[in-house]
Amino acid sequence: MKGYIKVCGVSELEEKKGFRYFISETQDIAVFKVEGRIYAMDNVCPHNHTPKIHLGFIEDKHVLCPVHFFKFSLQSGFQGNQSSASGCTLPVYKVEIIEDEVWVEKPEENTFNFDF
Ligand code: FES
Repeated sequence: MKGYIKVCGVSELEEKKGFRYFISETQDIAVFKVEGRIYAMDNVCPHNHTPKIHLGFIEDKHVLCPVHFFKFSLQSGFQGNQSSASGCTLPVYKVEIIEDEVWVEKPEENTFNFDF
């Protein structure tokens, strides 16, 4: 599927538990299954550039970074219920499910948003 990368099988994902996938030696993403829906995002927290989002906690369709507990929307990557203008944003990626396979929109190389 052009522009997408195959990350894992749907059955490999556990509800509300992050799955870490390395795109390259220097870039990885986090994938979560929450209430049957699958979300993909950068694994590097934009707050302190720590690659720990896959270890985050799920709360109300948000992921809480386990380092300082910044809260990002699984859908938009925005902090809490705010727009990106009020805080740092976690890049999120489109997900397509083809049969049992999870395909994620291929991110740009190391995309960070330092606007906070
Ligand atoms: S590194 Fe994620 S909240 Fe600080």
